[in-house]
Amino acid sequence: MRQKILVANWKMHKTGAETVSFFKELKSLLPKIMSGTHVSDTHVSDTTIVVAPPFTSLETASKLAKACGVKLAAQNMHWEEKGAFTGEVSAPMLKALGCEFVILGHSERRHVFFETDEQIHNKIKTALNQGLKVIFCVGEKLDERESNQTFSVLEKQLSLGLAGVNKAQLSEIVIAYEPVWAIGTGKVAEPAQAEEAHRFIRRKVWDMYDMDTAAALPILYGGSVKAQNFKAISSEPNVDGALVGGASLEAKSFIEILEQMS
Ligand code: PGA
Repeated sequence: MRQKILVANWKMHKTGAETVSFFKELKSLLPKIMSGTHVSDTHVSDTTIVVAPPFTSLETASKLAKACGVKLAAQNMHWEEKGAFTGEVSAPMLKALGCEFVILGHSERRHVFFETDEQIHNKIKTALNQGLKVIFCVGEKLDERESNQTFSVLEKQLSLGLAGVNKAQLSEIVIAYEPVWAIGTGKVAEPAQAEEAHRFIRRKVWDMYDMDTAAALPILYGGSVKAQNFKAISSEPNVDGALVGGASLEAKSFIEILEQMS
């Protein structure tokens, strides 16, 4: 069975003090959810929970996350390991803070900060070489979907991002399908739309690697996920979890999504 994963992407939210409050609440809610009535028909207890705070809260989150059994992710990093790159953060720095994962290729990095496929590829290679697992985001914009380019966009992002990544390294990668038109808009993808894109991604990974590698790859959905809409998406066979922005800022709304994992 594929690994189930639920990721909180806090983006540019939460000071250190707010991070402490979040984990305090999470710690009190998690045991209740774990022993809840729906546990037997969901993946509450075997889901890997990951939280991605801003860089400034990583150190605070690191200790608190461990106490809750939650893994830590960074939201970005530079492709060089060190050097004259004012304002940037490297993979070894993130590892030293206890990060296990790093989110790369997020649509806000691509479209607000104009990161290219080549830069994302360089970051993926460095992260893997440094022992960080990668949550690699791909997804099409609205105009691309409307002009029937969804699959060609995904194909390009996957081919360029994963170029030169070997089979062993691929097992350290999680892919997040995040249609740009669904991120932060409240406009979630239809379950069938998510499934179609996830199936395409798995097929592409099969072509690039092999069937077993593709079958083992966790593919997360992201874009306006909340507890109320995730059950149907999560029931799709190729959806293995979620990357959650807005609804991850409160421990309660984040953890309620866990109860919908199927
Ligand atoms: P959202 O963000 O859940 O607020 O749409 C998801 C993301 O950007 O990862």
